Amino acid sequence: MKKTIRNLFLVVIAVAAAACGRPSRPSTIGTTPEVERRVDRLLAQMTLAEKIGQMNQVSAGGAVSNYAESVRSGQVGSILNEVDPVRINEFQRIAVEESRLGIPLLVGRDVIHGFHTVFPIPLGLAASFDPALVEEGARIAALEATAQGVRWTFSPMLDIARDPRWGRIAEGSGEDTWLDARMGEAMVRGYQGTQWDTTAMAACIKHFVGYGAAEGGRDYNSTFLTERQLRNIYLPPFEAAVKAGALTLMTSFNDNDGVPSTGNKFVVKDILRGEWGFDGLVVTDWNSMGEMISHGYGADRREVALQAVRAGVDMDMMTFGFISHLEELVHSGAVREADIDAAVRNILRVKVLLGLFEHPYVDVAAAGAVQYAPEHLDAARRTAEESAVLLKNDGVLPLDASRVRTILVTGPLADAPHDQLGTWAFDGQKEHTVTPLAALRERFPGRVVYVPGLENSRQKRERFDDVVAAARRADVVLAFLGEEAILSGEAHSLADLNLKGSQSELLAALKAAGKPVVATVMAGRPLTIERDLPNCGALLYAFHPGTMGGPALANLIFGDVVPSGKTPVSFLRTVGQAPLYYNHNMTGRPYQGEMLLDDIGPEAGQTSLGNTSYYLDYGAYPLFPFGYGLSYTSFAYSDLALDKASYARDGVVRASFTLSNTGSREGTEVVQAYVRDLVGSITRPVKELKHFERVSLKPGESRQLTVEIPVADLAFWGADGTKKVEPGDFQLWIAGDSASGEPVSFRVE
Ligand code: GLC
Repeated sequence: MKKTIRNLFLVVIAVAAAACGRPSRPSTIGTTPEVERRVDRLLAQMTLAEKIGQMNQVSAGGAVSNYAESVRSGQVGSILNEVDPVRINEFQRIAVEESRLGIPLLVGRDVIHGFHTVFPIPLGLAASFDPALVEEGARIAALEATAQGVRWTFSPMLDIARDPRWGRIAEGSGEDTWLDARMGEAMVRGYQGTQWDTTAMAACIKHFVGYGAAEGGRDYNSTFLTERQLRNIYLPPFEAAVKAGALTLMTSFNDNDGVPSTGNKFVVKDILRGEWGFDGLVVTDWNSMGEMISHGYGADRREVALQAVRAGVDMDMMTFGFISHLEELVHSGAVREADIDAAVRNILRVKVLLGLFEHPYVDVAAAGAVQYAPEHLDAARRTAEESAVLLKNDGVLPLDASRVRTILVTGPLADAPHDQLGTWAFDGQKEHTVTPLAALRERFPGRVVYVPGLENSRQKRERFDDVVAAARRADVVLAFLGEEAILSGEAHSLADLNLKGSQSELLAALKAAGKPVVATVMAGRPLTIERDLPNCGALLYAFHPGTMGGPALANLIFGDVVPSGKTPVSFLRTVGQAPLYYNHNMTGRPYQGEMLLDDIGPEAGQTSLGNTSYYLDYGAYPLFPFGYGLSYTSFAYSDLALDKASYARDGVVRASFTLSNTGSREGTEVVQAYVRDLVGSITRPVKELKHFERVSLKPGESRQLTVEIPVADLAFWGADGTKKVEPGDFQLWIAGDSASGEPVSFRVE
């Protein structure tokens, strides 16, 4: 009975939606017949010029006068890069009270990992494997940004990154599709909230699509992803975020297989709109429309504007292609006004849902109250604590404060308030950053000696006599190393991933001083740190941890908090291994740990080395695999068993196992479940993450747990171009990282 009523309701919705010019399928952004009526009433009043004005977005930070007349004449639908509430209100006043139809502006900003209170960079957020915590942080970012009038963020970035040379690996959730999708959903929910009140900030899922596969890890470069790779690896996080209700999406700079995304009808119109039913707003990346001329895809701005609108783009960020050419393109018949109407509907729909018509202005007096609120800083600290990954520990950690009198703090990231915030922290004010040095000095007054050793992370230095002398006088050495913020993020790809400058030499000198050394690396990417590992007793990896990184790291180092972070990307042994990721194909010659050059003498001859897919000098395993991270305790997995030997395609795989805390401290384990499809109509990855959860156990505690994986989650786009679960043999692992555990087998019939 219930199903009949539901189906009847959907029919009513579909008929009502069709009557309002909306696609007759459930809205992905939660529009209603009332919203659609408002949109259509407004659209009916608009001139063609005013419609095209809504499709124009300008970067208007700093001076209202630059764009006041354009706004007044209805030529601007959105501004970005203005965050001053007074100026935002002035822009809105002109739009609402001085333009003919009074349509409010959509005010956008890159609020990527926090607004004023800066959280760890998104790669660090992913390392927490804690979607609920990430959602909490996104909600805080929305509270702070909307309080100043920003109602649209260009986040989350969902680009899968398998090559750490790419600087924007910092901004995404790493190499895995499942983790990326869960993080994207969490950020969409956090930004947009649960009701369209004035703290709702439209999310923008980006960069659509495949941008992270840039050739050579060189930002903006071409990608060559097949449709199957798109559908099995790169598109699922976007589809998940659309299902989570993301209001907007941004096209990417790259050309994939020769077609720039901003002109790619197949991904925007056919997949995003046609298959997924997305009825939100599609915006270009900054001048990505204009860049199609550089790509050699369009001869001039008129042509690329035509290509973009035909592909299904609604709003033009900073090419001025729509505002300059669409009216003529419509009059010439090259573009139908109905297509303009569809684009403007998508824009107006978002503005109505955000309540901008009812509440276009921000309360300037209240704007500052929420910034850096104590509960925001507390959340940022908790997130930084969960985002840090313990990669090595010979037992030196956690430090016992009662047993270390003098603490030497050193390294270029020990007191770097700007760099600690990481890339894309536009509105994070370094004055609010609490660095490790500040946190340790506050916690241990009179016991911290600070000798930086290097003034910045690229400084070269021959000798470190001052630091070594200080180390000899200390009980423990805390070295904070890594990357300055500028070395990752947009346009900042690297061909050498070793610690820059003389940082490795500094660490070696500290090691030689003979005191316990704890290294903490703050970076925007997984650096190649193999050569540094012998020179420290422990290494904590904190992907630029944000405003509260200092207190978080102090709490981790002294054991107030137990590390639980896991690597969201593979850590390479050398950059020559790139790209290297855990969910690779088996190939016909899978690497099984064959002999390396170092294992044999110079006259070994041909027969001593392996003939499989690997490097003679570095093998084919990473230094640290995806999903890896240590704790101050240890965990054991046992009794893994499945409830059945085979499952129907609509079934659920139930795997039970026992997790034990075999150490002496309470800790939290990120339990991970991986599945391998042994034989498919196309070759399949050696394993794929299909579930993760955080489990806290007391020392000695064991708990029986059950992981449920719907068989439907094993579907993939196969040789026949459809998505389905293929019958056959599968393996399942449940472990603490992607390289551990023994599988159990099952079949799908
Ligand atoms: C940049 C980035 C994009 C950002 C936009 C607006 O070039 O590629 O991620 O949101 O421009 O700043």
